[in-house]
Amino acid sequence: MEAIAAVVLAAGKGTRMKSDRAKVLHQVCGRPLAWFPIRAAFALDCAPVVAVVGHQAELVEKELSQLFPGAPLAYALQKEQLGTGHAVLSAQAALKKAGFSDRGSVLLLCGDTPLVTAETLQRLVRAKQDSGAPLAFIATRPADPKGYGRIVRNEKGFPERIVEEKDASAAEKKIGEVNAGIYLADAPFLFKALGQANRNNVQREYYLTDIVSAAAAAAREGRAPWPPTIEASEEEVSGVNDRAQLAWSAARLRERRLSALMREGVSVVDPAVTYVDEGVEIGPDSVLEPLVSLRGKTRLGQGVEVGQGCVLIDVEVEDGARILPYCHLHGARLGKGAIVGPFARLRPGAQVSEQAHVGNFVELKKTVLGKGSKANHLTYLGDAVIGEGVNVGAGTITCNYDGKKKHVTVIEDGAFIGSDTQFVAPVTVHKGAYVGTGTTVREDVPAGSLAVSAGKQRNIEGWVEKKGKK
Ligand code: UD1
Ligand code: CA
Repeated sequence: MEAIAAVVLAAGKGTRMKSDRAKVLHQVCGRPLAWFPIRAAFALDCAPVVAVVGHQAELVEKELSQLFPGAPLAYALQKEQLGTGHAVLSAQAALKKAGFSDRGSVLLLCGDTPLVTAETLQRLVRAKQDSGAPLAFIATRPADPKGYGRIVRNEKGFPERIVEEKDASAAEKKIGEVNAGIYLADAPFLFKALGQANRNNVQREYYLTDIVSAAAAAAREGRAPWPPTIEASEEEVSGVNDRAQLAWSAARLRERRLSALMREGVSVVDPAVTYVDEGVEIGPDSVLEPLVSLRGKTRLGQGVEVGQGCVLIDVEVEDGARILPYCHLHGARLGKGAIVGPFARLRPGAQVSEQAHVGNFVELKKTVLGKGSKANHLTYLGDAVIGEGVNVGAGTITCNYDGKKKHVTVIEDGAFIGSDTQFVAPVTVHKGAYVGTGTTVREDVPAGSLAVSAGKQRNIEGWVEKKGKK
């Protein structure tokens, strides 16, 4: 197959978003908008992919580069946004450097069109190849064509030109077939056509759509075949211009992602209210209950259960672990068969090892809870290293912070921690030791011993009557 480069237009501000952030950086499914068309171009083996940046160029470049490490992704700066044709011209130098000036073809995509699929782009490639024309582009018939450029066809049905809504006559506005803004063009043809484009239109812009009239002119003069169009669904080519369209596109992308997961054997109880970011991995026989949100680099093994209302960010979960409803987990790891929640909070560095349990109203930070250990109720464990088979009683608190520094609490294998215990770190409880209920542990507890710090209980008889209390 002939070499294909891609240009993704991402320089606009996106005025209708009413945002300080460039439109193409707004997030859907955990990725900036522009990530999606770039991914589609890479799926088609386009190289290089040149993103045309302008508004917040540095930020756009930084965020996209992080998401495509090592990929042939280049950037071209369009200082002033003088139109879509001008934007593509801004990428000319970068394309020329990669050899796309007297050979190869260039796929032109918009950064605000996240739903276009690689399959449709593949159809576009085939249509152009089969026709031998220097240009092919995507057409669609939206329910409401308003705002789109209309495709004006001649009596033989070939596309003569595209007319923008703002430049269209009343008759042209009645045309239902519109330009999706996605094209595949021979590089020499593309840059020759754009070199001849002018700003004689209502918006005083360089229109990329002028390449269609250039291709039609070549066909009329018998220099090339007529440019073919392929038809795509309105959904695939719909752009994001405002926040309502952003939410709509996000919902479509979510549907696709969840359908793919279900095909791979993941149960999604209610796909309408389940949120799985791009990049999240989930093993078969896992179950996602409603209102679950899986974000960042989260990875779930096989047969993992995520209960209603849980949020997991950058969490690694091994096979068969269960997360009961309403937990918030960030940067945590769960071993095989571990059980967490309901209502637990695991913060970065929390590790709940194989078969260990963390119950309700328990917070863990930078803490390893060893194999089979339990912390089932109302507890804060921070900067702690807890061995295997340890029982942590209700209301246990590590006092890990002295106002300046964090200190470590170590609890060795088989220790038993009574309820309402405080550990004033740094402190160590050695193997198999017991800590009595209500103890403030300030010193290490030797193996096999019992630590108690509460005083002996006194009962003052007749106190209630003496005080005149009922
Ligand atoms: C464009 C097409 C229209 C088509 C529609 C499909 C033109 C003249 N019109 O219109 O026929 O129906 O797409 O969605 O091409 N951009 C830049 N630099 C610029 C201008 C735009 O990078 O100077 C980027 C924008 O950020 C955006 C994309 O190009 O991602 C499309 O620009 P936009 O202004 O939205 O074009 P439309 O008016 O939608
Ligand atoms: Ca647009």
